[in-house]
Amino acid sequence: MKGLILCGGAGTRLRPITHTSAKQLVPVANKPILFYGIEDMTAAGITDLGIIVGDTADEIMAAVGDGSQWGATVTYLPQDEPRGLAHCVLIARDFLGDDDFVMYLGDNLLQQGLTEFVENFETVRKTKGGPPAVAQILLAHVDDPRQFGVAEVSDSGEVVRLVEKPADPPSDLALVGVYLFDSHVHEAVRAIEPSARGELEITDAIQWLIDQGHRVVHEVLVGWWIDTGKKDPLLESNRYLLERLEPSNLGTIDAASNIEGRVVIEAGANIVGSRIRGPAIIGERTQVVNSFIGPYTSIADDCEIRDSELDHSVVLEGSKIVGIPGLADSLVGRHVEVTRSGQKPAALRLMLGDHSIIDLE
Ligand code: DAU
Repeated sequence: MKGLILCGGAGTRLRPITHTSAKQLVPVANKPILFYGIEDMTAAGITDLGIIVGDTADEIMAAVGDGSQWGATVTYLPQDEPRGLAHCVLIARDFLGDDDFVMYLGDNLLQQGLTEFVENFETVRKTKGGPPAVAQILLAHVDDPRQFGVAEVSDSGEVVRLVEKPADPPSDLALVGVYLFDSHVHEAVRAIEPSARGELEITDAIQWLIDQGHRVVHEVLVGWWIDTGKKDPLLESNRYLLERLEPSNLGTIDAASNIEGRVVIEAGANIVGSRIRGPAIIGERTQVVNSFIGPYTSIADDCEIRDSELDHSVVLEGSKIVGIPGLADSLVGRHVEVTRSGQKPAALRLMLGDHSIIDLE
């Protein structure tokens, strides 16, 4: 089985808060979103990975390299324009050959690993009777299905219809960005036409398979799932991912400091006269001095937090926060400085771009 990870098409939503324009590389709990997908792939035994790259190819390639850090081999597959998810399958034809593969959207984050999903495909193909399934999709109940591909499932549990971002959704079951295919999908992606938005939709390719009488099976997702390209991505996914961190300490904590709950302190971090209440992560070489770090906070590498109180916030690398009490629900980009020179407001809610410098009265 091979893996195809889609990282073409630049992200625009997250640009204001991250130096990089590749939305798949935005760090959540101090790790790029994309890395969680790669880890899930390799944990499921899939190590032959193709990554579709577009105008952010350089950043993706610099971050992922040859894949050896995960024991994987990576083949980069350039896409000239974001022409649709089915177009990605089309251009990956040589890489994929006739193998089964998992297609994974690089901006999706899900709690459930891939192992069971992959194993079930094999089991379902053998045991459920009728013709073997050629594809397996993952569905999740969502509040606003109009933002997603939506599936209609019959009473007997078969997928009967799929529509991409419908104005009038037939159900609340959205397509999650993880799909399993056998080689039948190659005929499907060649057969379909671009949609109204000008893209070759994978949703239409799967519908084509159904229309040809092929069996498409599904699973309904257990646990959380975030399409980080859409909704409150950083704070929400940060919250979920911090919950599953294993506490550890590779830094230094002085006797006057107090660490409570699920906290990761990375190598070279220094905690002095401070209280950290998890879940939280403090990045490498970051200094936390005379401060309180509250739950659901990620502070990246090389930051300085001094005489401050932070809660439910994400601070990217190289930033400095000095003399700020009550910073909450905030996203702070890279190399930002927030300092205080005068009287305080009780709380601050900030969304700061990279390299901003703020000097508060
Ligand atoms: O997240 C789930 C949804 O993903 C599904 O419910 C939809 O059916 C599916 O079409 C897709 O919708 P999005 O509008 O969220 O897809 P987006 O354009 O954000 O692309 C998803 C990922 O695929 C992202 O990492 C960029 C990459 N991509 C996208 C296109 C259109 C490519 O690599 N090439 C492309 O041509």
